[in-house]
Amino acid sequence: MDGTYRVAIIGCGNRGRSHAVGLRAESRCRVVALADIKPEAAAALDAEHGFGAAVYTDYRELLDKERPDVVAVCLWTPLHLPVVRDCMEAPGVRAVLSEKPVAPTWGEYRETARVAEQTGRQLTFCHQRRFARGNQLARRLLAEGRFGEIRRMDLYSPRHLLDCGTHTFDQALSFNNESPARWVLGAVDAGKTFAYFAVRAETMATGTLVFENGVRATIQVGGPDMDMGSGVRIHGTDGFLEVDWDGRFGRAVVYGDPAWEPPVVEKDGMNDHMVGVVRDAIDSLETGKEPELSYTKAMRAGEIIFALYESVRRHARVELPLEGFTDHPLHAMLDAGELGAEGKTGPS
Ligand SMILES: NC(=O)c1ccc[n+]([C@@H]2O[C@H](COP(=O)([O-])OP(=O)(O)OC[C@H]3O[C@@H](n4cnc5c(N)ncnc54)[C@H](O)[C@@H]3O)[C@@H](O)[C@H]2O)c1
Repeated sequence: MDGTYRVAIIGCGNRGRSHAVGLRAESRCRVVALADIKPEAAAALDAEHGFGAAVYTDYRELLDKERPDVVAVCLWTPLHLPVVRDCMEAPGVRAVLSEKPVAPTWGEYRETARVAEQTGRQLTFCHQRRFARGNQLARRLLAEGRFGEIRRMDLYSPRHLLDCGTHTFDQALSFNNESPARWVLGAVDAGKTFAYFAVRAETMATGTLVFENGVRATIQVGGPDMDMGSGVRIHGTDGFLEVDWDGRFGRAVVYGDPAWEPPVVEKDGMNDHMVGVVRDAIDSLETGKEPELSYTKAMRAGEIIFALYESVRRHARVELPLEGFTDHPLHAMLDAGELGAEGKTGPS
C-alpha cells in the first residue's frame, strides 16, 4: 500500500511546508511534484523533505505531465478557486486539499461548491485545528453531555473575519453538531482596513447569530477588550468550557461537581494537526466517508462570515441560506466610499 497516491503540492511557502509535513508522515502518499512561481521555494521544500519530486513553475504543466491523484493547493486566497477548479477538473485527480479560506467572495464560495458537486471529486479546506487533541476532547465531552445541553457560545478570533474568523466558526460548528446558522446580525469597524493574503478586512467585527438548532452565539473578531484571544466559550445547562483555537482549555466548570477537572491531553502542535488532515483525507478517499474538513463544512463557516458582512450592508438581520449577492459586501462598501473614512490600509 505504501506510496499508493501520487501527490503534488502547488505553492511551496509557509502552508506548503505544513502540508509537506503531513504528507511525508502518510505512508499511502508519495510527493512526486511541486509547483511554485519561485522555483527556489519548490527546490528548497524538496530538499528539506528529500521527496525527489519534479519541480514546476507552471502548475498547469504539472497537472498535465504528472497526473497526480492528490493535490495540495497552498496559495493566497484569490488563487484558491481558479487553481482548485483546474485541479478538480484535471484528469486523474481524485482529491484536492486546499488552504482556507475557500475564496475572497461569496460568489466564489458558491462556485467552488458547484465545481465540487459537478466533478464529484473530494475537496477539503484546511481547518486543521479540528485535529488538535484538545478540540477532539472538547467534542467528546460535549457529546457525552458533560456540560449539559449547549445553550450559548462566545466566539473569539483575532482580526480579519474571513481569514481568521473562519477557524473560529469552523470550531464552533464542530462543537455544535455541524448545525448551520439560521440568522446573523453584525457590525464592523472599518475605520482602518487590513489585507491578509490579498483580501481586505476591517479592524474589528462583532455580531450575534443563532444556529438552526437554537444555540445562540456572540462574535468578536479583533478589537479591544477580548476576554479570549481566540476560540470558543461554550455555555451548557450544566457547566461551561473555554477552548482556544488550538484546543487549549481555559476554565472548564461543571456546576454540580465543582471538583471535576477535564482529563489532561498530550501537548500537540501544527505538525500533529497536519498529520491528521492528510490521514483523514486519504481515509475518506478510500472509504467514501465525508472528510472531517469537507468543503460543505467550510461553506457553513463562510456563510456566517458573508452573512455578517451582508448584514452591515443591508442594515438588517440576514436569514440563511445566504442568497441575493455574489460579491464581498465589505469590499463593495469600501470601494463605494461608504466605509473606511480614514482610508488607511494596514500591513498585508
Ligand atoms: N490553515 C492555516 O492555519 C493557515 C495559516 C496561514 C495561512 N493560511 C492560508 O494559506 C494560504 C497561503 O498562505 P502562505 O502563508 O502559505 O503564503 P506564502 O506566501 O508563504 O506561500 C505562497 C506560495 O505560493 C507561491 N505562488 C504564488 N503564485 C503561485 C502560482 N500561480 N503557482 C504556484 N505557486 C505560486 C508563492 O511564490 C509562495 O511561495 C492563504 O490563503 C492563507 O489564508 C492558512
